[in-house]
Amino acid sequence: MTDPNQLTEHKLVQLAKILNLLADGDYHSGSKIAQYLDVSRAYVWKLIKELEHYGIELSSSSGKGYCWQASSQLLDSQQLSATLADTGITYFLITDSTNQQLKQNFLPNQLIVTEYQTEGRGRRGRSWQSPMAANIYASYGWKTELPIQQLGGLSLVAGMAMIAALQQEGFTGLQLKWPNDIRYQGKKLGGILIELSGDAIGGLEVIIGFGLNVNMQSSNELSQAIEQDWTSLCQLNQQKTEQQESSQQSCDRQSLLVVIVKSLKNYLERFAEKGFEDFLQEWRKVDESLNRKIQLLQNNSSLTGIARGVDASGALLLEINNEMTSCYAGEVTLRYET
Ligand code: BTN
Repeated sequence: MTDPNQLTEHKLVQLAKILNLLADGDYHSGSKIAQYLDVSRAYVWKLIKELEHYGIELSSSSGKGYCWQASSQLLDSQQLSATLADTGITYFLITDSTNQQLKQNFLPNQLIVTEYQTEGRGRRGRSWQSPMAANIYASYGWKTELPIQQLGGLSLVAGMAMIAALQQEGFTGLQLKWPNDIRYQGKKLGGILIELSGDAIGGLEVIIGFGLNVNMQSSNELSQAIEQDWTSLCQLNQQKTEQQESSQQSCDRQSLLVVIVKSLKNYLERFAEKGFEDFLQEWRKVDESLNRKIQLLQNNSSLTGIARGVDASGALLLEINNEMTSCYAGEVTLRYET
């Protein structure tokens, strides 16, 4: 796949224009697109191939032109900047990974957001499937003077901030699987990836990456590479209204993102002021693993026990043979035992 950093600004604008045109889900002829962009039809064909190369599934029909069946409105970065006026916004149509972008050029209180990631990453070296304009992929830069030992609960706090935002938008029954999965009825809806840099003296630079499945459907090719049960907000809506897939309503990613960022910033402020302890009660309400038999896997070793919530630092409390052990997130995977 072409390195997205090699795409010129001009090319990206042209690709975004085509996607905006096709966002209505209707057919648009090659000549209409050519006219709209003020380029030749042959060049339109090249741009279409480029979009297909990034996994955008376009149908073409000789008399009618091109149609983006899984179409979605692109985010409006200007409107985002206006609505989140106290936050720096950097928008990419396509990028490698928003976490990576923020890492390369860290700025506190900066939100990097994209429509598509070529190298979206999850925890433990996994990849994060990021189909074009289907979901939310973003990273927020947070600078803190808190010592690293007090940041254990941060991904839990970020997860709770996302759940609070989604509840505000009418989504209920959401849970968190320690340390970073947002879930609905045992299916993954989103995840948090925290990366740290900086030093103890100058304060820590924290990158809070979050991915949330919003309008992704199982028909999407990239979604088929996800190796676990997943769901998306539009599927939740569908369940609610018992509609057919074809008649499902898509969710507005733009307003969701705004609510999530506001909630995240509130939660971070509270975390910096009061520490994780202040979130313990809220965690209990969303803790999916509570009192379940689980296995914690790390490298080649594993621990099996009953999950008994978290301690005041956000470490998982695992009961093994009537004794409680605190387990730290790090490179750990939690599995349920049946
Ligand atoms: C996980 O559940 O393993 C964490 C997934 C985090 C995915 C998001 S998408 C935006 C940000 N950029 C990345 O490359 N990853 C995070």
